Amino acid sequence: MNEKGAKEKRIGIIGVGNIGMAILRGLLAGGVREKIFISDENKEKLRYFESDPETGSRVEVCESNEEVAKRSEVIILAVKPNAVPGVVEEIAPFMNEGKILISVAAGVPTRAIEDYLGEGRKVIRVMPNIGARVREAVCAICKGEYAREEDEEIAKDILSTIGTVYSVKENDMDVITGLSGSGIAFFAAIIDAMADGGVYEGLPYDLSLAISAKTAIGAAKMVLAGEKPSGIKAMTASPGGTTIRGVYAMESRDVKAAMMEAVIEATRRAREISEQSSMKNAK
Ligand SMILES: NC(=O)c1ccc[n+]([C@@H]2O[C@H](COP(=O)([O-])OP(=O)(O)OC[C@H]3O[C@@H](n4cnc5c(N)ncnc54)[C@H](OP(=O)(O)O)[C@@H]3O)[C@@H](O)[C@H]2O)c1
Repeated sequence: MNEKGAKEKRIGIIGVGNIGMAILRGLLAGGVREKIFISDENKEKLRYFESDPETGSRVEVCESNEEVAKRSEVIILAVKPNAVPGVVEEIAPFMNEGKILISVAAGVPTRAIEDYLGEGRKVIRVMPNIGARVREAVCAICKGEYAREEDEEIAKDILSTIGTVYSVKENDMDVITGLSGSGIAFFAAIIDAMADGGVYEGLPYDLSLAISAKTAIGAAKMVLAGEKPSGIKAMTASPGGTTIRGVYAMESRDVKAAMMEAVIEATRRAREISEQSSMKNAK
């Protein structure tokens, strides 16, 4: 580890939209000690942070992306993939060799960012998910050519504040984007659909939604504790009972294939974005 603990590093976030804001809130709730520097093209969003009592005193709103880059040691770039080249070129003059750029942009390879930032600059790529809002993000992380192991450790330490971090190969980033970056929305859709089933059968929506979400947590915790999904089914589905009737309904509508397809399609889209980023860079 470096001279300073990762949580004492000066952290900046460029782009406080959906994921940037979720990461910011997760970091603040997770005890990051230094002020966090933020910038965004959308000045309305920034004003909100200044006046928000929860974040106001612990966040410093910067006039520009350059200012965030100048004042921070670790910069989290959370703009849409098509805005990445412009922002990286803008901040490049202020990104000396000690600084670490963490990009969370889907489908933008570290190589492309390094080309915009300049040789020798440290780039870390991360695929988080919106669970960062409640410090339950899944973050996949890999480093670019010039970042060192210690830099990846610093990034992992910072991100562990907002959830669980897995080191992965860069080639796996697109599928993780489908499975987890997008996948959290698929689980939300399933929780909602099951809640609607409860409503159809007479439960009030709020109660049905809470029960559906808690049921999902129970299944997830059992799987993480080592239980196989098929084991949960076996323990629940008694012969001639209710669960097997529900399982039959799912099987007859190919819910499993639909869920696989959701991950496969989201991954395909991440690969398309990757190819577009690489092609633009090659020009
Ligand atoms: N959302 C997720 O769940 C999620 C998960 C994993 C990864 N990601 C990745 O995270 C990135 C951001 O996604 P998002 O959903 O958070 O998008 P978003 O809600 O649109 O947030 C992006 C923010 O960046 C601002 N922005 C645009 N251009 C800028 C510039 N040149 N300088 C500074 N700020 C700028 C946007 O302002 P305007 O509103 O004015 O455009 C917006 O506030 C994407 O690359 C995405 O692939 C997102």
